[in-house]
Amino acid sequence: MNTQLLPAAPPSIALAARLLAGGQLVAFPTETVYGLGANALDRDAVLSIFAAKGRPADNPLIVHIHDRGQLDGICEVNDAARRLMDAFWPGPLTLILPRKEAVPYEVTAHLETVAVRMPSHPVAISLLKACGLPIAAPSANRSGKPSPTSAQHVLDDMDGRIPLILDGGACDVGLESTVLSLCGDVPCILRPGGITQSMLEAVIGKVEVAGSVLRPLHKGEKALSPGMMYKHYSPDGQVTLIEGEEADVVEALRRLHAHATAEGHRTCVMCFTEHVDALADCHPHDIGRQDDASDVAHRLFATLRDLDDEKMDVIFSEVVPPEGVGLAVMNRLGRAAAFRTVRAEEVLCGR
Ligand code: TXA
Ligand code: MG
Repeated sequence: MNTQLLPAAPPSIALAARLLAGGQLVAFPTETVYGLGANALDRDAVLSIFAAKGRPADNPLIVHIHDRGQLDGICEVNDAARRLMDAFWPGPLTLILPRKEAVPYEVTAHLETVAVRMPSHPVAISLLKACGLPIAAPSANRSGKPSPTSAQHVLDDMDGRIPLILDGGACDVGLESTVLSLCGDVPCILRPGGITQSMLEAVIGKVEVAGSVLRPLHKGEKALSPGMMYKHYSPDGQVTLIEGEEADVVEALRRLHAHATAEGHRTCVMCFTEHVDALADCHPHDIGRQDDASDVAHRLFATLRDLDDEKMDVIFSEVVPPEGVGLAVMNRLGRAAAFRTVRAEEVLCGR
């Protein structure tokens, strides 16, 4: 299949809407990451998403809408959901709600709940309006790769597999939406994102964060969000996170880089903008400003993809405090590192 990459404009958006209505797949920008869309009510179209991504069939999809009226046929909407939609839609918040029958089980991976979100990106909204359909869309990466934050990332993963990619430039947020379940006793964040726990709590009161957000699943533990079960966001090289006091971390990165390089590994560091000069000899990748987790969120996935392009096999990274948007960064970075973490002072003690 020939894959067209077209700048998002009225004619290409109209073409995309026709393809979607005809059961085909289209990649499009959202404010979080690029999505790979299909008509959510067309089982075969939905199945072709799983084939194009190489995605396990038990990992459910998010249904995207542009008008709340579309939810009538999709899910039950409760009072908390309504208040959250008032506060955060359109925007990077996905709600898990009880599913209605019209939604195929191919979308929900046989769950009785469904994920719904109204994106704010103007191209996504125009496309949803033009086709008038609810669009099931996971991130437009091959399964296991970091989510795409540019049209080029989508092309790198999907060339020859889908007919059209709409190019709307780089994504604003850079990490996938916050996934919040409203189906349990207490609302629970299954995947942290740009809409933070405190922002949610300001609207609906107590919100929990799923235990597996900052650690691997325990043996036998059921994943609340099936996507969490899979190796995710991983570059091909081995990532190790370095924690500790700022000066210790910089010195530890220098030593670890020197040691791994001496052993013959292609080695680099992921560090804050402020430390790029100090680590100039360590093949630094700038992950953003130290005190600005949103900046790190914005750059993280592009950086992880660069590491693969450069065939790095050993990577050492700084970390951000797991608060606010930093929780979303550490959820993704933790998984990229398979939660391998080292204390800087232990490195400096020579251990
Ligand atoms: O920002 C985003 O959310 C992007 C853009 C394209 O909208 N989409 C995205 O989709 O990240 P995806 O498929 O890569 O991630 C969806 C996550 C998965 O981890 C999945 O497990 C969870 O949402 N999910 C979907 N339906 C669910 C359900 N019924 N119950 C629990 N988790 C669900
Ligand atoms: Mg994904």
